[in-house]
Amino acid sequence: MNVKYFMFLFCPLAVQGQTTDIVQTADIIEVKTDNTSMIFTAKTDAPVFFQYWGNRIDSTADFSLGRAVEQQLFPAYGGRYFLNPALRLTHEDGVLTTELVYIDMESNSLDENRTETIVHLKDKLYPVFVDVHFVAHKAEDVIVQYVTVVHHEKDSVRIANIASSYFPLHAEAYYLTHFYGSWAAEMQWKEERLTPGTKVVESKKGVRTAQSENPSFLLSLNRPAEEDFGDVYAGALAWSGNYKLSFEFDEPGVLHTLGGLNDFASEYYLDSSRVFRTPDMVLTYSAHGKGQVSRNFHDWSRKYALAHGDKLNPVLLNNWEGTYMNFDEKTLTDMIDNAADFGIELFVLDDGWFGNRFPRDDDDAGLGDWQVNKKKLPRGIGYLADYAVSKGLRFGLWIELEMVNPKSELAQKHPEWVVKSGERDVLTMRNQWLLDMTNPDVQDFVVQTFDEIVAMSPNISYIKWDANRHVENVGSEYLPAGRQTHFWYEYVQGLYAAYERIREKHPDMEIQLCSSGGGRVDFGALKYHDEFWASDNTSAVDRIFIQYGTNTIYPVQATASHVSSSPNHQTGINVPLKFRFDVAMSARLGMELQPKDITGSDYRFAKKAIREYKLIRPIVQLGDLYRLISPYGENGWASLMYVSKDQEQAVFFAYSLKYHNPTYFETKLKGLHPGKRYKITELNGRSNHSSFYGNDKTFSGEYLMNVGIRLRLYRPYSSAVLLISEE
Ligand code: GLA
Repeated sequence: MNVKYFMFLFCPLAVQGQTTDIVQTADIIEVKTDNTSMIFTAKTDAPVFFQYWGNRIDSTADFSLGRAVEQQLFPAYGGRYFLNPALRLTHEDGVLTTELVYIDMESNSLDENRTETIVHLKDKLYPVFVDVHFVAHKAEDVIVQYVTVVHHEKDSVRIANIASSYFPLHAEAYYLTHFYGSWAAEMQWKEERLTPGTKVVESKKGVRTAQSENPSFLLSLNRPAEEDFGDVYAGALAWSGNYKLSFEFDEPGVLHTLGGLNDFASEYYLDSSRVFRTPDMVLTYSAHGKGQVSRNFHDWSRKYALAHGDKLNPVLLNNWEGTYMNFDEKTLTDMIDNAADFGIELFVLDDGWFGNRFPRDDDDAGLGDWQVNKKKLPRGIGYLADYAVSKGLRFGLWIELEMVNPKSELAQKHPEWVVKSGERDVLTMRNQWLLDMTNPDVQDFVVQTFDEIVAMSPNISYIKWDANRHVENVGSEYLPAGRQTHFWYEYVQGLYAAYERIREKHPDMEIQLCSSGGGRVDFGALKYHDEFWASDNTSAVDRIFIQYGTNTIYPVQATASHVSSSPNHQTGINVPLKFRFDVAMSARLGMELQPKDITGSDYRFAKKAIREYKLIRPIVQLGDLYRLISPYGENGWASLMYVSKDQEQAVFFAYSLKYHNPTYFETKLKGLHPGKRYKITELNGRSNHSSFYGNDKTFSGEYLMNVGIRLRLYRPYSSAVLLISEE
């Protein structure tokens, strides 16, 4: 048990305006990882106080004095609490307030790395019980927090809002980093100094809830977040539905951070004795800047929130930008031949392969009718999958099971499955409607259809799971009239229930997460997937920014990044093939174009680049990320590197985003071993002249990290990749 009992004297404590001065017995509750501690104090029948979150403290006795101003562990709306509450309930008799007090706590070792601490709270008057759960992941310095509520009132209790996590901080200044965006511009990094009042980051969209704001944040105390020093707190909500993160800067200057389900139009009526569980909030802290915070998230998710986080993801060719829906069997087998020649490991057939009565030749028909289109592919998916395998490639397929075109057999057969608001018009988006995942029949359909699709061939080993619209005119024919506001919560629960069943049956299937690009990138969805499509924007220039934001939180190994054709289909920008490869190779490399269009010296270059990516892949996908120069800086450079866990190998990337004259590129490397000697070899070179003056020479780690390196990179969209190997 992580509990120690202490007698302590409460010197007059301001407890949200309350003061007490009686001698009490208190529990000190510790949630600890290798380098961090969260500490609470509790006494029976009184509120539990959040005392501390930061560097690990082993001697906690000093907390027995309490602190002059204290915040509750999980502040409910009631008593003297006037800030945004973590919990707001309406009891069966209409009483709007809740006052939570301590019952006791328990601590359970889940395995060598994880300990769960549960703080049991109850309402002072009503039979309402709230458990605040913390799962400490020691090695990764991650604490996963969630909350469960149960009550024994006779009627239902209305949950007006419930957070997954709350924590208070007190500093001179707070700098919030969050990630905003839109389609083709996801995860744009934004840091701002918080001012008094409440800043909210949220989604009310449903389905594509990470598209315009990701449910993750960093908070730096006193100064903008630095890579290598300073207190940085961070959170990422593991939830693929509406969410809300709020940062309330109060009168005394305390910052109150809440994160969890969005309370917008989503009151939840909790029946007696039923348990309500919030999503997980994944929290981490480092005293050594945001670089360590990113590495904590990556290490944690590779182990706990990625389907096969310990393995390398394949180099693939996706046909989407190469053919869109305009293909036949020969187009695809030719692409597979070319892909094999390039050394590609997996071929993914994207949208357009299904529908007969309503053929999927455009995005206005066929969605929902998951039978292979006989005209385009007369010998079926089995033939294509076998063909790919016979050429040494694996085979994957695109699906979008949560959606339906009005022009489809499915929409005609099951109009009751479509999300709709009573008699109002059902609005289309990308010509499609949303299926109601709150309905168990729809969940069954999704699971069965997945089974049927993968049963088309034992050689299907990869699925791209897409979801191309969000929710409008919300409503469910399945949910009762008085429970329509449950839609937002139950949709995600239904989706996750389907994923659970699918994963149980198909544990080895590789599944890519996609929602019009990065519309659903969150740790809740990610745990069922192997990787995600970060954005429909394949322009290498924009990808530098998108990947910079994305990989601040989410792992590189899972970040699909594809070389596409030039001019880019989304932005119209022309950039050299080398630059496109150098960007895609800094994540999970793939191609998304017509490979036969790469000819001559480009062909030789691309083939070599794919070969060299396979060399550096373990370092990029499983190593530690160090950001060296932010693309958001003023100087028009971007640079990052990955270091293998044993510090024997590293790979370095540098990009020029504008014309540089007379300035030149220089940076210090990070994460190497100061005592080792490293040979530096430029990869992906296109001429006989290396951009690095010390190409093929050796340097000490100490030199590289203190003196640094200079590169000849002057032109816009010039770039360099260096392999750094211990001698
Ligand atoms: C979405 C995806 C794309 C592609 C298309 C197919 O936009 O993000 O990658 O799969 O759908 O319709």
